[in-house]
Amino acid sequence: MIQKPRGTRDFLPEEMERRRAVEKRMRDVARCWGYREVCTPEFEELELFTARSGEGIIEEMYVFEDKGGRMMALRPEITAAVQRMYLNEARVTPKPLRWCYFADCFRYERPQKGRYRQFWQFGVELIGADTPVADTEVVMLARDLLQSSGVSFTLQIGHLGFMKALLSDMELKEQRILRRYLDKKDFDGLKGHLNAGGREDLYDSLTRLLECRSLDEITEITGKIPEHGRIEETLDLLDEMAVEYSLNPGIARGLDYYTGMVFEAFAYNLGAENQILGGGAYRLSHLFGGDDVPSSGFAIGFDRVMVSLGDSAGEPERVVGIVYTPEGKSHALRVARVFREAGLRTEIDIMGRNIGAQITHASKSAQFVAIIGKREQESGTVTLKDLNSGEQRELDLSSAVREVVTSGPRG
Ligand code: HAM
Repeated sequence: MIQKPRGTRDFLPEEMERRRAVEKRMRDVARCWGYREVCTPEFEELELFTARSGEGIIEEMYVFEDKGGRMMALRPEITAAVQRMYLNEARVTPKPLRWCYFADCFRYERPQKGRYRQFWQFGVELIGADTPVADTEVVMLARDLLQSSGVSFTLQIGHLGFMKALLSDMELKEQRILRRYLDKKDFDGLKGHLNAGGREDLYDSLTRLLECRSLDEITEITGKIPEHGRIEETLDLLDEMAVEYSLNPGIARGLDYYTGMVFEAFAYNLGAENQILGGGAYRLSHLFGGDDVPSSGFAIGFDRVMVSLGDSAGEPERVVGIVYTPEGKSHALRVARVFREAGLRTEIDIMGRNIGAQITHASKSAQFVAIIGKREQESGTVTLKDLNSGEQRELDLSSAVREVVTSGPRG
């Protein structure tokens, strides 16, 4: 039998319902913050992703040559694509632009729990704003989105300026290599790299920096960095808005485009792959031939949120089964239509089973059955049976609909 590709998943209806329920809650929050959905292609010119990070990231991507000889990549993330789209379609639109997306990404990684080759991100990009209030907005929105899902998490905020201050006499490329070691928490690799370059002096200050948890402690090591006032204002605003976070100057972020504030969220109950959100302030559009537009944003690892939520995600939907005798058939079809028009998930027997077998089958998924025989057909009623309590009553159609609608989900 043919199996699905490594690192991908199939989602059965129950799982899709849980995913959609959480996705909907996130969409509602994004809408209230004024973030409107955008959609970009699943594959892009390879150059879109190598422009910033270099050819090195090709190893982590699905790359292919199309029939026209062009090098393409399945998107490993959405931010670069959104910036490209902004330049192509919306550069003259008044700023700021508040955009969000719910989309699948592809990374050629070693699969494990919480790490897949196809996974979904719920992300936002705030394009063209560069103020402490903008930084505060994205962090608060990140918190609100995660809270709406029901997941338990901690939020950590950092700033690349701290590390940059320590590494200021190094080339940008070298700084990025060190940031990668830090992002992967590969301290042996970091030490080896610094030693090889004759910079073992930095190991101590970098590791001391990582232990700091307040701006004062950090400043003792880095000195006052140019962004100090901006960071202070953002943190003050977050404190005023009662956002819970910890300051972590060790956040390095794996992607190369970040320029300022960076932040990540971690779920309590996941193992190694516990990072459920990552983002920050970045600049990318100048690399794609546009102006240098300050932006910020983040993406939630939706699949990890779902793993973290486990069975607690989404309430099961109410289901009504329509069961009938041969005499009740046409009325049964009409009744099904009335329930559906009321927005209820309604399933009718299509297997020609006898009424007892129909009820047995319906009770596997339904909370109610509407029983329709000759009497109901003649009087235009239904006999509604609540499968949880066992109670049953003959009702007119609108009362039956009301009864189901007001019953609440199965609990
Ligand atoms: P990222 O940290 O690479 O950032 O990915 C965001 C989130 O996607 C991660 O925190 C993680 O939860 C999830 N994720 C990443 N890789 C996998 C995987 N293989 N399987 C399952 N989940 C995964 C970005 O992608 C940036 N574009 C975020 C951003 C938006 N920055 C600014 N705007």
